[in-house]
Amino acid sequence: MFKILAFETSCDDTSVSVIDSNYKVYSNLISSQVTHNDFGGVVPELASRLHLKNIMQLTRAAIKKADVTPEEIDAVAVSVNPGLIGALLVGVSFAKGFAYGFKKPLIAVNHMLGHIYANKIDHPELEPPYLALVVSGGHTELVDFQSFDRFKIVGKTRDDASGEAFDKIAKLLKLGYPGGPIIDKTAKNGNPEFFDFPRALNRKDNFDFSFSGLKTAVRNYLLCKDEKFIKDHLTDITASVQKAIIDSLVKKTINYAKKNKTKIIIVAGGVSANSMLRKMMKEETAKINIKVYFPALEYCMDNAAMIGAAAVDKFKRKEFADLSLNAFSTKGVRFI
Ligand code: KG4
Ligand code: ZN
Repeated sequence: MFKILAFETSCDDTSVSVIDSNYKVYSNLISSQVTHNDFGGVVPELASRLHLKNIMQLTRAAIKKADVTPEEIDAVAVSVNPGLIGALLVGVSFAKGFAYGFKKPLIAVNHMLGHIYANKIDHPELEPPYLALVVSGGHTELVDFQSFDRFKIVGKTRDDASGEAFDKIAKLLKLGYPGGPIIDKTAKNGNPEFFDFPRALNRKDNFDFSFSGLKTAVRNYLLCKDEKFIKDHLTDITASVQKAIIDSLVKKTINYAKKNKTKIIIVAGGVSANSMLRKMMKEETAKINIKVYFPALEYCMDNAAMIGAAAVDKFKRKEFADLSLNAFSTKGVRFI
């Protein structure tokens, strides 16, 4: 059995976790940066500075909560891409310092792969082949995994990511940031059929997504309504917006799964916390006898435990990085 200390600083959450080779989480501390709420989105420079401010004490606390000493840690894992470059650099530099100081191997993890591995924490038995729907603030991708190193991105967004659509539409409705959880909550008592917002790229054999047209449609819709109407129908409007986003995600995933005889679907990323997505995906997969997995709610949003979980398999394969490791802001490097 081995233990991994994992770091996640790709966006606005600083997180440190200790996890073992059986995906048992000993600690998973997250410091969310509320500073950005005043700006309606993440300010990269502020994010980097706050990661720097928090990471040392969070590491001490995560190690203490896990009841281990630094010497008992067997490897250090860190997300290296994609993300905000300054924010990633804080985690990568700190992880390198820890690895060098305590003479531990270093493991580089792709953040999106981390989201996928969040599913392994409660389901260690989960292995490819599976179809992964990865839905976060910056990504919306359908990834067909044949094995851990054989995969194909079979669909992706052509403009906004699904989480980004939630965030931008919540901003139009003056609901605050991040918009996904707020819309999810506001929509609970609303009528999803209240208004039929558009679903883009609707052809059955098109697995790409597009959400910027929806954003414009909502903007135009709101321009035609007075404040009282919007206030009185807020639950219905948010429910209809949510339905439009979730419909696209579920239909395209199911269409691909049917066409390719997929047996397992896993959902990952911040939007996987969405209650309508969970409900609809469970209903639709049950109809065609496909197994579906979601991460536990605490592992949906950015967290270091998922980075550690992805690192477990890399440790077993001895995929270590050296101290020249650098952060990448884009998806330009391997998913694995
Ligand atoms: O994965 P994540 O924590 O960060 C990125 O890697 O982007 O995802 C954050 C995104 C935000 O856009 C947020 O609005 C969305 O996930 N999100 C949700 C929900 N919870 C978080 N979207 C819809 N429904 C939710 N319950
Ligand atoms: Zn993320």
